[in-house]
Amino acid sequence: MNGSLVVVDDVAVAFADLVLNRLEAAEGGQFSVAFSGGSTARDCYEALADSGDSVDWSSVTGWWGDERCVPLDDPDSNYRLVREALLSRVHAFGALHPMDSAEPDAADRYDRLLRDAPPIDIVHLGLGPDGHTASLFPESEALTAPEGRLAVYNTDPLGTNPHRRITFTFETIRMCRTAIVTVAGAAKREALHRVLDGDPSAPASHIDGRDVIWLVDADAMGS
Ligand code: 6PG
Repeated sequence: MNGSLVVVDDVAVAFADLVLNRLEAAEGGQFSVAFSGGSTARDCYEALADSGDSVDWSSVTGWWGDERCVPLDDPDSNYRLVREALLSRVHAFGALHPMDSAEPDAADRYDRLLRDAPPIDIVHLGLGPDGHTASLFPESEALTAPEGRLAVYNTDPLGTNPHRRITFTFETIRMCRTAIVTVAGAAKREALHRVLDGDPSAPASHIDGRDVIWLVDADAMGS
């Protein structure tokens, strides 16, 4: 596992505190976050909305680290998840870059957007029970995306995770200033320990970058 690991009581609250601290340190300057999907992420963004009412969100640019290839108002959309949990509850968010799969060649478009943008300050990542992160699934093509590719289409060859996806590659994750990985609940214990043991077949083992912080709760960490 690359980076530092912190066992916390409440992953969502710890995530919100960390993000707000980093936002405060930016002193109102431009700041960018790449959002994740999943239920842990939803809890994190709700906590962020709860505690961030004094934040000037207009200086924050929102990206997505992965998305399902569904309409942006689909119940399975990560864009909709973030809109419901955070964007609809705070004032005047900054620029938003949803991964809109309705666009032709959406992955290529996103790849170009990322290439033309400054490094993202925080990329938020989850951990799936199968060891995936973002939409980088075990044995999937995106794990070996061509060097230089920042966003690609991907699917789960094992069929565990629904929908065709668009996802950051590991290269994009490495380029972000900070990666925060949130892991909560006993259902993630096996996957987390595969990562801690450096199991290369768990895609999340390959999360790397300048500053990687794992926020995990006691249930996920186990005894
Ligand atoms: C997605 C997410 C995915 C998620 C993990 C954890 O689009 O599904 O980006 O990588 O973060 O599967 O999800 P849970 O928090 O729901 O377990």
